[in-house]
Amino acid sequence: MADIAVLNGRLMPLSKATVSVEDRGYTFGDGVYEVVRVYRGAPFLLREHLDRFARSAEAIGLPLTPGPARWEAWVKRAVKASRYDEAKIYFSFTRGVAPREHAFPAAPRPTRLITVRPVKPSAPPSHDPHRGVRVVTMPDLRWGRCDIKSLNLLPNILAKQQAKQQGAFEAIFIRPGVGITEGASSNLFLVLRDGTVRTPPAGPTILTGITREAVIATARREGIAVVEAPIDLDTVNGAAELFLTGTLTEIAPVVQWDGRMVGDGRPGPVTRRLMQSFQAWIEAQLSGASSGRPTGGRVRR
Ligand code: PDD
Repeated sequence: MADIAVLNGRLMPLSKATVSVEDRGYTFGDGVYEVVRVYRGAPFLLREHLDRFARSAEAIGLPLTPGPARWEAWVKRAVKASRYDEAKIYFSFTRGVAPREHAFPAAPRPTRLITVRPVKPSAPPSHDPHRGVRVVTMPDLRWGRCDIKSLNLLPNILAKQQAKQQGAFEAIFIRPGVGITEGASSNLFLVLRDGTVRTPPAGPTILTGITREAVIATARREGIAVVEAPIDLDTVNGAAELFLTGTLTEIAPVVQWDGRMVGDGRPGPVTRRLMQSFQAWIEAQLSGASSGRPTGGRVRR
């Protein structure tokens, strides 16, 4: 088993993959990316991630070339070559190598990168329904297009580092005039006292997580009402349960918010039910995928 890269269509050991110091991904963060989870050797919700990847690229004036079908083939080749069962795939698409001028190069030659690295399946807190994570709030210092999965992550990493220094798993952003938006690398959900699940609406102030969408669908299948509406601190204070979602986070119950206990300090019943149902849905998707059935996502090509 080995860490693998596919750089501009060429498969190689990850340690051999290098890009120029003049790549605009390096000098400007001028590019977009995705992170996909591999379960038992199969990239999970790959088409949904590729769809968002193409949308992000389009939004920065860099239409995805080649199209998603070729990326899908590269990703599958890389995962196969790695022989990892449990892994994370990272892929990025930058405006390529050019002398450092802010405006776009006349004829960009994009850099296309895919990497595959192992993950420990026991790493996400979501695998232990008896544990939960702590979060701390911070001002949302990001730009006005958080729906684009851009390589520019400085506010996210600074917030995450601050959270880590405070012993928390995640930083939750608060944006003036908007409310609570999301985590530095995850989406936020509340379970209200009436059992309704609530999450901030899709739009330019959050990244519309692929896991977020899957969890909303899971909740609805379970007969749980989901409302996508703005969330303020009062809503959080009145919530019975909180949880985070993300590709690598999966569903993580939040048991402490800015030092205050959430509920009785343990993952709540609705969160645990969703975790169980989500895991069962992943299993079902995996058996569907291995029998050649579609994984349930629509791809725009
Ligand atoms: N981050 N919000 C932000 C700001 C994120 O960076 C992420 C994911 C999410 C969750 O999205 P998804 O369910 O599609 O993973 C929400 C990835 C995992 C990362 O940057 O590592």
